[in-house]
Amino acid sequence: AKNTFEWRYPRLIAHRGGGYLAPENTLAAMRCGHEYGFSMVEFDVKLSQDNMLVLMHDDTVDRTSNGIGLAASKTFRELSELDFGGWHSAFYTGEPIPTFVSVARFTQENNIFCNIEIKPCPNRETETGTLVAKAAKQWWLHSHLPPLLSSFSLEALAAAKQAAPELPRAFLTEDLPDNFTVILEEMDCVAINLKQSLLDQEKIERIHQAGYKVCAWTVNDYQRAKQLLHWGCDALFTDELLRVTPDLA
Ligand code: G3P
Ligand code: MG
Repeated sequence: AKNTFEWRYPRLIAHRGGGYLAPENTLAAMRCGHEYGFSMVEFDVKLSQDNMLVLMHDDTVDRTSNGIGLAASKTFRELSELDFGGWHSAFYTGEPIPTFVSVARFTQENNIFCNIEIKPCPNRETETGTLVAKAAKQWWLHSHLPPLLSSFSLEALAAAKQAAPELPRAFLTEDLPDNFTVILEEMDCVAINLKQSLLDQEKIERIHQAGYKVCAWTVNDYQRAKQLLHWGCDALFTDELLRVTPDLA
């Protein structure tokens, strides 16, 4: 796939939808990223206890909602009763947890590219990878904008590859592993997404020479963003939608 997939994603990606400007991983966040000129958003997807795909970063709801406890132990109905906006600011009070489908619909209606990060709850790696890939395949079937699927979990990536081999994948990790070509080949990835502070020009060139793209998470400094793009970094995730702005790329 790395040889045939035509990479045409934008160079700047709004992290968790709207970066710091809106409550992460909500529809309000996607709207915010879009309003601030971003044509690509990243968001994290996991399974509720009853196997609904929802957007959430952490294993627990504690930080980003008015509830407490493990996401994996709550049904979608229970998650839906929580406020996922008020922790950010009063303006967003009452913002619900979004379903995967509502975000698929919103991004396609507005021609927004997506990086779907598969963020499984512990011990649900394979089923999350499978269900995210199947849903992405179904919901982006008639779209010219295939989502990029990524994960820190190799189990989740392998499951995604099996369920939807045609969807582009990226391996998410911190630093470039010595055996990165073996992993990317095995997972049939088009890209590797690395921690920005550990990236340098030499690593970017090694990745490109091997035939892969490289994305950097999470770049919140304007000068650093410029430098990484100058070095040929293919895309950056940012929380600072007002500093690391789309016109930079
Ligand atoms: O996908 C890039 C970035 O979101 C990875 O880290 O913890 O913010 O999901 P995290
Ligand atoms: Mg993420």
